[in-house]
Amino acid sequence: MTTDTAPASAPLPLLVLGQGTDLRTERGVECPGDLPAPSDPDLVERARAAKAALGDRVFVLGHHYQRSEVIQFADVTGDSFKLAREAAARPDAPYIVFCGVHFMAESADILTSDEQTVILPDLAAGCSMADMAAIAQVEDAWEQLEAAGIAQRTIPVTYMNSSAAIKAFTGRHGGTVCTSSNARTALEWAFDEVGGVVGEGKVLFLPDQHLGRNTAVRELGLSLDDCVVWDPHRPNGGLTPEQLAGARMILWRGHCSVHGRFTVDAVETARREIPGVKVIVHPECQYEVVQLADEVGSTEKIIQTIAAAPDGTAWVVGTELNLVKRLAEQFPGQRIAFLEKNVCYCSTMNRIDLPHLVWALESLVDRRVVNPITVDPQVAADARIALDRMLALPGTTHKD
Ligand code: 13P
Ligand code: SF4
Repeated sequence: MTTDTAPASAPLPLLVLGQGTDLRTERGVECPGDLPAPSDPDLVERARAAKAALGDRVFVLGHHYQRSEVIQFADVTGDSFKLAREAAARPDAPYIVFCGVHFMAESADILTSDEQTVILPDLAAGCSMADMAAIAQVEDAWEQLEAAGIAQRTIPVTYMNSSAAIKAFTGRHGGTVCTSSNARTALEWAFDEVGGVVGEGKVLFLPDQHLGRNTAVRELGLSLDDCVVWDPHRPNGGLTPEQLAGARMILWRGHCSVHGRFTVDAVETARREIPGVKVIVHPECQYEVVQLADEVGSTEKIIQTIAAAPDGTAWVVGTELNLVKRLAEQFPGQRIAFLEKNVCYCSTMNRIDLPHLVWALESLVDRRVVNPITVDPQVAADARIALDRMLALPGTTHKD
C-alpha cells in the first residue's frame, strides 16, 4: 500500500455478544452438551471428581486474574510468562486446560507438541487489548513504514497480549515477544539488534502503548519525546515523516480496558486517605499513574512484592480485581485495597467460570474435546520463532 491511501479496514475490534444475528459474534455463547447451571451446588465436587478421573492426562493452568472458584483447580498459577513456560514444560500431559484468555491459550498451543491439545473452557475469553491490533492493520502499517524507509531500521516487539498472527509477523521480521515481566530485557535486545539504544534504530511496539512507553522511558532512559503513537485508523499512523524519523519507539495505539482506567486522582486520594500507603500497579497502567507508584510489575511480581512485605504494610493495588481480592484474603496482616473504585473485573478473564471448567473437564472424561485452540501450522511456526527468542532472553527465568 502507498503512504497516502487509507489504512486497511479491520474486523470489529470488540465482539458484541448475545445479539443472535451473527454467529461469529456468538463465540462461546452456545456450548454443545450440557453446561452445568451456575448455581449447581455440586460443581466443586464435580470438578474435583473429573480432575481425579483424568489424573496426569490433564494439566490445568490458571492466570492470576481468574476467579477463585476456578483458580482452586489450577495445577499451576502464574503470569503470562510463567504460564507460557509451564505449558512448554509439560510434554507428558495430553490435555492442557488453560484458564486464562485466548492469546495465552494460543501461545500454549504453539509451545506444546502436536500430540497435545490446549483447551480454553470458554471461547469468548478474549482480550480487548489484543483485539486492538488486527494482523491486516499491522501488515498495512509495516508497508507504510517500509515505504517511508523506516521499517529497514525497525524491530517489532509484540506484547504477549496479541494474536498468534501478530506474533508470527514479529517472528518473520526479526522481532520478539515480551511479557510484562521481561519487557525491559526484550527492548534492550531489540535495540541491540538495530544498533543500540543510542542510535538510529527503532522499535515498533505492539499493541500496548502503555507498557511500551513505561518500559522505554522508565527503564531504558528514553524520553517521552522519543515515543510516538501509531494510530492504525489514520493514514501513516497519523504521524508526519519528521515525527517518524525522530522516534525511537513507535507505539501501537492499544491499551488495556481495565488498567487504562486507573487514574492519577485515585493514587492521590489513596495517599491522602491511607497514611504511609504503598502504591503498586501493573505496567499496563498509564504513564502518569505508573510514575506516581512505589512499585510496578507483572502480576507475579505484584504477588511476590506483597508477600515479602512485613505485616502492617498498607497497599493500594492497581491491577485486576480478582487478584487484589485474593491478595487481601491471603495476607490479612497487611492492609490491601483496590486502587480505583470505578474499575471492574476483566470481563473476558471472568468468562471462565466453574460451569465452563466443569464442562471442559467432564467432556474430557467422556473422551470429548471441547473448545480446542489450534493455531494454523505456518502461523505457529513463525510465532514460535518470536516466542523462542523471548524464552531465550537473558535473565528471564522466574524466581517462583
Ligand atoms: P501478566 O503477564 O502480568 O500476568 O499480565 C497479563 C495481563 O493480561 C495483564 O492484563
Ligand atoms: Fe486483556 Fe486487560 Fe483483561 Fe489483561 S486485564 S486480559 S490486558 S483486557
